[in-house]
Amino acid sequence: MLYGVDFMANNKMVVANLKMNMMVEDVASYLHQIASIDNQNVIICPTALYIPYFLNNNYHVGLQDIFFDSNLICTGEISANQASRIGITHALIGHSDRRIYFQESEQMIQKKLVECLKFGIAPILCVGETAEERGMMRTERVIKRQITSALRGIDKKDLIHVIIAYEPVWAIGSNSNGNTPSNKEIEDMAQYINGLIFQLYQVRIPILYGGNVDDKNVSSILENTSVSGVVVGGVALDPKRFLKVLNVIFAE
Ligand code: PGA
Repeated sequence: MLYGVDFMANNKMVVANLKMNMMVEDVASYLHQIASIDNQNVIICPTALYIPYFLNNNYHVGLQDIFFDSNLICTGEISANQASRIGITHALIGHSDRRIYFQESEQMIQKKLVECLKFGIAPILCVGETAEERGMMRTERVIKRQITSALRGIDKKDLIHVIIAYEPVWAIGSNSNGNTPSNKEIEDMAQYINGLIFQLYQVRIPILYGGNVDDKNVSSILENTSVSGVVVGGVALDPKRFLKVLNVIFAE
């Protein structure tokens, strides 16, 4: 079993979600520019096409999504079984892109999470409210529903391998106009999620924040004591800024 990396509760973690970005001719230069990264708490999630390049360069690699049943042979998908054999340690599950563009249901997300755990892949469960839900003061209710439905049937010995990423949909990427929650809002949500997990399982698991994190706001986001790390999208595409983010987080 792989189960991610040896994540220590007091270490910070960075997940880079590269989405569909980058053309193949740019991958070598990207890898060259980030070559100084030698940190087991940095997980890179490139488009599936480029995964071997990252694995061959000794990065910890995560999938951006995974199929929900390794026995059900399905066109166009990647199974957890295949992923673990090739050395993939993590998978994003339920990213808002998937929930929005593929209408991924909470039931489907739960199955994907179970499937990851079955094959020793650490699932990074993405949860987050839309602007509309936030406007209706439903944030906590939505997050609670997303988490409890995804964790249905998961026992404590598996739960400890799960990572939760709080990513408000309205703060993610190009749709966000640079908006992010305030520090206090991030801390409050991380605390809320910690409390919920503790109530259900009496343990703590890493809670990450994602949504417009960059080299300028990362240090204040990580001042939040309940936040164990960040998911970065846009800023990870610029090697210089990505390295700055890592420097802020990991510099002693
Ligand atoms: P962003 O993306 O950093 O560009 O907002 C984060 C994500 O989609 O996970």
